[in-house]
Amino acid sequence: MEALIPVINKLQDVFNTVGADIIQLPQIVVVGTQSSGKSSVLESLVGRDLLPRGTGIVTRRPLILQLVHVAPEDKRKTTGEENGRRTLAVITKLDLMDAGTDAMDVLMGRVIPVKLGIIGVVNRSQLDINNKKSVTDSIRDEYAFLQKKYPSLANRNGTKYLARTLNRLLMHHIRDCLPELKTRINVLAAQYQSLLNSYGEPVDDKSATLLQLITKFATEYCNTIEGTAKYIETSELC
Ligand code: GDP
Ligand code: NA
Ligand code: MG
Repeated sequence: MEALIPVINKLQDVFNTVGADIIQLPQIVVVGTQSSGKSSVLESLVGRDLLPRGTGIVTRRPLILQLVHVAPEDKRKTTGEENGRRTLAVITKLDLMDAGTDAMDVLMGRVIPVKLGIIGVVNRSQLDINNKKSVTDSIRDEYAFLQKKYPSLANRNGTKYLARTLNRLLMHHIRDCLPELKTRINVLAAQYQSLLNSYGEPVDDKSATLLQLITKFATEYCNTIEGTAKYIETSELC
């Protein structure tokens, strides 16, 4: 897990340099109605080890949150499109069910089929937040809740399992994007190299230094992509 973080950082640097509009960024989008628990889920994930925490710069852009307002008439369409092969459903508030009922059928995928699965979680209630309950305590209690109410499903639900699943999906997605990304980078590098060549030979020491700098940058840039590709090819992804 820890070893993946520098890889993500490098990729982010590359994407950032190339520009998001010419390269498709691997990303996770969170969709849900108001107060369904989106922020709570992200908070628990960040509180866990999906994203690194520590003093100083650990991950420079751990999370980019974009809030997009979707008009009611577009909502059905958006959900329809996203409910495809890339959708993972998260059922929040498993603790808020009428006594005598359970979410067994939903968690087993018998009610709504979702390609990447359905993961149930229990996040902090408003009272928990008011009482300043920590994410760590929340995850401990979530685990206890799942063990008690859904013993047979406990190890396939919960925040910890969600974090592991998302990490795996994102790594697979990045791995799938890499060949296209490498091609794109090579094309761009060649384009810029010929542009650079068209400026002719350097005329004095100063411009020679600039040319060296640009060449060095271009080389490091390609090495980063190569290194990242190699790393992902050799790493255990499942
Ligand atoms: P968002 O609007 O989708 O971002 O929802 P929030 O994360 O802000 O959650 C809305 C409210 O629901 C807050 O008061 C949370 O404390 C509460 N909440 C979220 N998840 C759960 C849960 O699993 N169980 C309980 N009891 N409350 C939750
Ligand atoms: Na809310
Ligand atoms: Mg929110």
